[in-house]
Parts: sequence; structure tokens; C-alpha cells
Amino acid sequence: MNKTIIITGGAGFIGSHVVRLFVEKYPEYRIVNLDGLTYAGNMENLKDLESQSNYLFEKGDIVDAAFIENIFKKYTPDAVIHLAAESHVDRSILDPLAFIHTNIIGTVNLLNACRTGWKDNFEGKLFYHISTDEVYGSLGADGLFTETTAYDPRSPYSASKASSDHLVRAYLHTYKLPVVLSNCSNNYGPNQFPEKLIPLAINNIKNMQPIPIYGKGENIRDWLYVGDHATAIDLIYNNGKVGETYNIGGLNEWKNIDLIKMLCEIMDNRLDRQAGTSAGLIEFVKDRAGHDMRYAIDASKIKRELDWEPTVTFREGLEKTVDWYLANQQWLDNVLSGDYSKYYDQQYKKR
Ligand code: NAD
Ligand code: TYD
Repeated sequence: MNKTIIITGGAGFIGSHVVRLFVEKYPEYRIVNLDGLTYAGNMENLKDLESQSNYLFEKGDIVDAAFIENIFKKYTPDAVIHLAAESHVDRSILDPLAFIHTNIIGTVNLLNACRTGWKDNFEGKLFYHISTDEVYGSLGADGLFTETTAYDPRSPYSASKASSDHLVRAYLHTYKLPVVLSNCSNNYGPNQFPEKLIPLAINNIKNMQPIPIYGKGENIRDWLYVGDHATAIDLIYNNGKVGETYNIGGLNEWKNIDLIKMLCEIMDNRLDRQAGTSAGLIEFVKDRAGHDMRYAIDASKIKRELDWEPTVTFREGLEKTVDWYLANQQWLDNVLSGDYSKYYDQQYKKR
């Protein structure tokens, strides 16, 4: 093994796709998946990798500084790709503190471990921080987020991610820690926890349950297939310039209501339902507090500098996603057991 990379949050949605890509593409690298297995972490996401000799798993909490320090001593990694986070806006509204702990303190613990573990000798080392477009705030009808858009986070989730981005940059400026960052738009695809819009809607449609749409469904998101995000992360890890930020987006803006209508059409088709059956489940519910209106990414820098662009069209990606959820009932049953119904009731019962 000629390199060791720690990937945090590898048991989560995006992390599992990144871990798989790296384990399969780089047999000569040792890939350590460091994950605390919160409600969002799922070992089943990586079952197929368990027998791979270049893959290792470490369970632990990034908020625990002593644990992180020991992991660095054990592995002396060459790089960290940091995805572990509390990631759901609605949960951040219910319980902001969990986001402060993991997203801010957890990130600082990793940055400190890099400094002490690498003994301020940063030759060939890299800390790659994965972030979100939500740090830039909310757009009106026009405009796109660029890498120089001023930060204006408006939810506890985005504020905690913005804070972690600032800290990562502060470690570059203050300690010369080699860092790179990327801020991506909404991801979708297999293995996403069904608290986020698309998998939640797929699950509800499948079970003929109401599809809760916040407000009037007019909010706009830019959607990217998770495999395309993983490819961008690989490119940035290898070719991104130290100290730089890259915005990653799908060039694919949808109003929530239009997205759900397309999803309903695909589900009717896949489940042999009469056209219009699934759309009949749409229910407009009380809006999310502080609901950001529109996110949209200018992804021209990563296209220009690293020749990356999305490869999966939205319809194709949604069909693949629906097919995956329909084919993986056991995965869905397992994540829906546990605390899911408690969360669902708290979030949706009184809306
Ligand atoms: P996710 O919620 O599916 O997974 C998060 C993972 O982190 C889980 O495996 C969880 O167990 C782990 N984790 C959480 N707290 C931890 C802790 N304290 N210690 C150790 N592990 C912990 O998240 P995701 O959607 O895959 O997002 C991954 C990253 O990408 C996050 O940093 C998120 O901010 C960012 N991001 C997500 C999106 C999106 O649309 N999902 C878009 C842009 C950026
Ligand atoms: P989500 O998947 O939570 O991602 P984010 O808030 O990070 O963009 O939500 C995507 C959009 O869908 C957002 O505008 C909120 C909306 N939404 C609903 O209308 N109903 C729901 O049940 C959920 C979870 C989200």
C-alpha cells in the first residue's frame, strides 16, 4: 500500500459512493472509512467491500478528540477526505447543537489531528473538506453561486457547515495546512437516507402514503447524481489546487413540485399504476422554517480547470434511483426500523 487515505462519513450516502470509488480505483491505496454510525451511517452501504484487502473500517465519533488522535497515530494517513457531518436541514431545526458538535468541533478535531499527526511537515499531505452550496444562502430568481459568493448561511445546518469551511481555510492561512474544499448542490441516488426529499417521496409513493411538499413546492434546488459527485471528488483530490475551492453542481434546477411530478410519473410506470395515481398523493404542508428559496451553482471553474461536468441526466438518474429503491426493499426496511418513525411523526404529524 503506497498511500493511506482516511475518508470520514464513509458509511453515509455520499461517503459510501466515494469509498467504493477509491477502494476499487486505487487497489494500491489503503482506504480507512472512519464513521460514527449515527442514524445516517449504514454498514450495509459497503457490504460488497468488506472482503477487499485495501479497505478498513474504524467506528468512532469525530467529536472525540482523543479517539481521532489515536486513529492518526495508528494509520499516519497521507490524506483525509472529510464527509462526516450531520446533514439534514430539518433535523438541524429540531436540534441545532448536534450540528455544532459534529460539523464544527468534529472538523476542528480532524484539523488538529492533521497538525499534530503530520508534525507540521505537510509535504505530500492533504485535508479535503466536503461542503455544501447551502453556505451561500438563498438566491432569488436570478444568479448563480460562484466560489467567491459571500457566505450567508440561514439554517443551523448551513451555518455549521459555513463555520467548518471558515475553520478549514483558517488552518491553511494560519498553519499552512494544505487544504482543498468543494461545495456541492443537492445530491440524489442510491443509499440516501429517506429523510431527504427524493428517497422520502419514493418510499411514500411506494406505500401509497401522502407526499409532503413544504409550502407551495416552488422552492428550487440544483440536483446532481451522487456518482457524478464522487467522480468530481476524485478529480479534486488528485488535481485540485491546494487552497482552492471548487463549486460542483448538476446544471439541473427543478422546482420541488415539478420534480415530484416527474418522480410520480416514473413510479406509476415502474409500479404499473394508472397514470396520475402517485401524483394524487401530493399534499402541501406547512413550510419549513426559514426555507431557502433557490440554490443554483456556477460550475464553470471545475469544468474549466479540471474538465468535470455531470454525466447523468436527471430523468436517467431518477429512474436509476427509483429502480435501486424498489430492488432494495431489505435496505429500506432496515433503515425504516429504528428511530425513523419517531422522527417522521415529530417532523410531519402536526404539519
Ligand atoms: P449522510 O447524513 O448520509 O451521512 C453522514 C455520515 O457521517 C454518516 O455515515 C454518519 O454516521 C457520519 N457521522 C455523522 N456524525 C458523525 C460523527 N460525529 N462522527 C463520525 N461520523 C459521523 O450525509 P451525506 O448526505 O452523505 O453528506 C456527506 C457530506 O456531504 C456532508 O458533509 C454534507 O454536508 C455534504 N453534502 C451533502 C449534500 C447532499 O445533498 N446530501 C450536498 C452537498 C454536500
Ligand atoms: P432536502 O432533501 O431536505 O434537501 P435541502 O433542504 O438540503 O435542499 O429538501 C429538498 C427540498 O425539498 C427543499 O426545498 C425542502 C423540500 N422538502 C419538502 O418539500 N418536503 C419534504 O418532506 C422534504 C424532506 C423536503
